[in-house]
Amino acid sequence: MSVHKEVKRVTVHVLHAMKARGEKITMLTGYDYSMARILDSAGIDVILVGDSASNVMAGHETTLPITLDEMIYHASSVVRAVKRALIVVDLPFGSYQGSSRVALESAIRIMKESGAHAVKMEGGKEIEDSIKRILSAGIPVMGHLGLTPQSIYKFGTYQVRAKKEEEAERLKKDAKLLQKLGCFAIVLEKIPAALTKEVSEYLTIPTIGIGGGMYADGQVLVTHDMLGITKDFHPRFLRRYVELFDVIKGAVEQYCEDVKNKNFPNENEQY
Ligand code: KIV
Repeated sequence: MSVHKEVKRVTVHVLHAMKARGEKITMLTGYDYSMARILDSAGIDVILVGDSASNVMAGHETTLPITLDEMIYHASSVVRAVKRALIVVDLPFGSYQGSSRVALESAIRIMKESGAHAVKMEGGKEIEDSIKRILSAGIPVMGHLGLTPQSIYKFGTYQVRAKKEEEAERLKKDAKLLQKLGCFAIVLEKIPAALTKEVSEYLTIPTIGIGGGMYADGQVLVTHDMLGITKDFHPRFLRRYVELFDVIKGAVEQYCEDVKNKNFPNENEQY
């Protein structure tokens, strides 16, 4: 008899139970098979196949250029690696704002072609119809309010959002609406901690903060930022757990030196 240890998958219901018992939710971004394996084996609850792939994987300045096909490629690589985490995929810019029908078609493509478990969409009232239509097809939706990088050209900067009363009120209304529509969680990006606290206490669905302070029900960071692979990005909210850029650079420099000096390969490293 094989002693096969079943891994219990994280589902949207598990996340709700975590909020109910006050257990914080961990989320990081993942875009490829190898990194997703590491994140999953470390016990991360949610992997976000973020459209930040546009920045950290493809080198674009914003998240706008990444396509639906590219997101599906990244998501299916992550799906092949992961046994436990819930996998959420960003609907990229242009794949859901046009009409609710286009939005549904995009979400269906992600679910069918990648095997991921949910989609994430930026915005509130203005994308209500698209969210409704996707949810009615049985696809779980994570919302995203506050700093929504797909609207960067409207905002003009990446500064903290909803500091003024009017924008904070709009965000609170949008958060309530997303919960009412049936979203299973909401990312709150770069807003004041007091506003995150108020929204998180009001909502029964979990909030996941990035630059939203300590009161969110969970936290998300871009993996390449928290591992120090990206170099010139130092917002206050970012904690770097390791400086991998320097670690990898050092290893590559050593390899180059060894090859040039004929120290690699040695006798034991050949056939
Ligand atoms: O694309 C992304 O990485 C995100 C996070 C910043 C939440 O949306």
